Amino acid sequence: MFKDLCAARYSCRSYTSQPVEREKLQYIMECVRLAPSAVNRQPWRFVVVDDERLQILYRAYARDWIRTAPAIIVCLAEKTAAWVRPSDGKNHADVDVAIATEHLVLAAAEQGLGTCWVCNFDAPLLAAEFPVPAGFEAVALIPIGYPADTATPKKRKEAAEIWELPAEK
Ligand SMILES: Cc1cc2nc3c(=O)[nH]c(=O)nc-3n(C[C@H](O)[C@H](O)[C@H](O)COP(=O)(O)O)c2cc1C
Repeated sequence: MFKDLCAARYSCRSYTSQPVEREKLQYIMECVRLAPSAVNRQPWRFVVVDDERLQILYRAYARDWIRTAPAIIVCLAEKTAAWVRPSDGKNHADVDVAIATEHLVLAAAEQGLGTCWVCNFDAPLLAAEFPVPAGFEAVALIPIGYPADTATPKKRKEAAEIWELPAEK
């Protein structure tokens, strides 16, 4: 059930050193590739980092726990390629990248892998030091690997607080 996958995913903040199999990364990226985007612009790029560039990411997000991840995926948006809503000029790059990134973390969870959304990074430092194709900017960092911790119970708002069902007829 999809709900079981949603319940299984959690923000993993401790990983084993076991590398993520290439086949699993390819499977996850295929799930990312299938994500929807506004006007199908697909204004995104995903860079799996497991080399010396990790040092830049560690500086941009200086938390000991992220160093345990064998790889970190940098999720990039291309603002100029994204759809812009004519009525108010809202650029949808972040929305598109967020959808694709959630495909990523759910696919990873299905494969027994842990991930954690990280947006509280030093954006100016990353923009200055991490090499990205021209026109792209980082939206999120996603550490990925085999979990060395376990999920804590989810705290969530009650259903009635967050959505309205139509009146029963
Ligand atoms: C857009 C976004 C940004 C986040 N940024 C961070 C972050 O910078 N550091 C962090 O440790 N967790 C971050 N998180 C994880 C949230 O704290 C976490 O999803 C939330 O507490 C719910 O817990 P769960 O993911 O285990 O269900 C982020 C989550 C989202 C969706």
